[in-house]
Amino acid sequence: MADMVDMVDILPAGLAHARVLAALHAVAFADPALSGPAWDEGAFASLLATPGVEGFILTLEGEPVALSLWRHVLDEAELLTIGAIPDARGRGLGGTLLRHGLAHLAGLGVTRVFLEVAVTNTAAIRVYASAGFTNAGRRRGYYRHREQSIDADVMVTDLA
Ligand SMILES: CC(C)(COP(=O)(O)OP(=O)(O)OC[C@H]1O[C@@H](n2cnc3c(N)ncnc32)[C@H](O)[C@@H]1OP(=O)(O)O)[C@@H](O)C(=O)NCCC(=O)NCCS
Repeated sequence: MADMVDMVDILPAGLAHARVLAALHAVAFADPALSGPAWDEGAFASLLATPGVEGFILTLEGEPVALSLWRHVLDEAELLTIGAIPDARGRGLGGTLLRHGLAHLAGLGVTRVFLEVAVTNTAAIRVYASAGFTNAGRRRGYYRHREQSIDADVMVTDLA
């Protein structure tokens, strides 16, 4: 069997990838309790046109299966979104994409990265914690799902 590493590629996303990013996001975030409604192609296009915003697509055997989107300003950055399609989860790909983004940001001189995650999103929190993120506070009612509001944890990591 081929080594998984040989089948995985991570590509920088440009404006031309807005549609692929939106398609991945729609599937990865099909459960609206995770982070609200999916972002469409136009939303990705305008985000990618924003200075400091960078996206990545992880492919498995050439097929796009995960995305990440980051925004950096000077030495600080924020993870805007990360997601993998359900079939590709639990194989370390989300963690690989997360670490790749952190290494890329470190190379740009970023020293601190923040993110927000729904307190109910145990899978994502676990991936973030394994990549070095720690809890830095809580935002009450950050996500809205139907009539319910869900708190978010703010997590932070310092890049060496
Ligand atoms: C978060 C996400 C990107 C992780 O991708 P992934 O490829 O499954 O991540 P990995 O395989 O690298 O890691 C999975 C980890 O979560 C754990 N995990 C998986 N499902 C879990 C669950 N239901 N509850 C708790 N932990 C879970 C695995 O055991 C593993 O932990 P480990 O590294 O300590 O062994 C993916 O679950 C996803 O796309 N979720 C939907 C979108 C989302 O919520 N994005 C984050 C929004 S802030």
